[in-house]
Amino acid sequence: MKTIRFGIIGCGLMGREFASAAARWCHLPEMDLRPELVSICNRTLSAAKIDWYRDNFPSIKQVTCDYQELLANPQVEAVYCAVPHNFHAEIYRAIIASGKHLLGEKPFGIDLSANEAILESVRAHPEVLVRCASQYIYYPGVQRILQMIEDHAFGRIIEVDSGFLHCSDLDPNKPINWKRTNELNGQYGSMGDLGLHIAVVTARAGWEAINTRAICLNIMSQRPDSTGKLVPCDTWDNATLLTELKDPIRNDNFPWTLRVHRIMPGERNSWYLNIYGTKAGARFSLKNPRQLQILRYTGGEQSWQNIDMGFETAYATITAGIFEFGACDAFMQMMAAFMYELSRGKPLNGAAACPSPEEIHEGHRLFTAALESHKNKATVAI
Ligand SMILES: NC(=O)c1ccc[n+]([C@@H]2O[C@H](COP(=O)([O-])OP(=O)(O)OC[C@H]3O[C@@H](n4cnc5c(N)ncnc54)[C@H](O)[C@@H]3O)[C@@H](O)[C@H]2O)c1
Repeated sequence: MKTIRFGIIGCGLMGREFASAAARWCHLPEMDLRPELVSICNRTLSAAKIDWYRDNFPSIKQVTCDYQELLANPQVEAVYCAVPHNFHAEIYRAIIASGKHLLGEKPFGIDLSANEAILESVRAHPEVLVRCASQYIYYPGVQRILQMIEDHAFGRIIEVDSGFLHCSDLDPNKPINWKRTNELNGQYGSMGDLGLHIAVVTARAGWEAINTRAICLNIMSQRPDSTGKLVPCDTWDNATLLTELKDPIRNDNFPWTLRVHRIMPGERNSWYLNIYGTKAGARFSLKNPRQLQILRYTGGEQSWQNIDMGFETAYATITAGIFEFGACDAFMQMMAAFMYELSRGKPLNGAAACPSPEEIHEGHRLFTAALESHKNKATVAI
């Protein structure tokens, strides 16, 4: 089996997730490429952050606080980058220019212009594989829905209803972090933080966003900092969008409701997707991640079928089909999609492809229009 030597830039929450998934690569017996972690970079090299990597990954030979040093290391062939959004454009562009493959975290730029600057680098370096880390589409139920879209199983789409709902920000005492500031997270607020994970589905479907009307809310305008002092919390907590989508193949238009809420009482990482069409409907939610609901309409009585999905993955694993699929598995499938494309030069299939920069760009165009819509209380053409 061939090895791809990886560097990680940004050793926080998601950097560890990537490293841990790389360590479990024996889980994917049919992969012909495996990741090896050789270098890590974090802006501050506190022992608390770095020791976990050193203790668990003897293959790491370089630890640096300067990403340019990691990029100058000829041992590094590909980079997983998980840093605050204000650094995406600068660091992603530097990675691509260095000729190293990039799996970069969403939102792939703090705003539309940063995203387009990254896209420009992607286009200037077609020899480099650049993909966006967004793992939710790899849940077996979502893979099944994406396959149904590809097979045109829904008929004429009547409506798409999707979203990503959280609740921990309901606690006013939750300390502020960089994801709750416009400066580091971006003006999109919850749309940049959560929205791309769900907007990737309509982009993958090839449905074009025509216009949108959005309402954004900043519910908690202050939060305590690490000392307990109340400081401004200036990002949008919640955004609700009503968007007109167009299916260019059928030439049909239909509504898409999208909710990206950091404050939705009772919800916890509830990524959901409901699609209603004239021939079929499908409903999936991470609230009950095993269950996929499908209604196939052939005339006569209409009834929803509840399917308990097993461990049915795009990229084969050693796990038996009877077991449950979870967050770490989804992340690993996404890495497998990246590695598969690196190894074979093309994705396994449409549903199982790692999100592309072009798909993510669609989300940026939508969220930029959503900000304008909220500001002007008007429907904005995209
Ligand atoms: N895919 C997902 O489910 C998911 C979940 C959470 C976050 N994310 C994304 O991952 C990225 C990082 O989020 P996180 O939760 O890991 O954040 P985090 O704060 O836990 O980690 C970010 C790390 O980057 C380091 N850093 C900051 N600036 C740097 C620089 N210039 N050079 C090197 N290191 C630098 C920080 O010190 C920190 O250790 C963001 O783009 C975020 O949107 C994705």
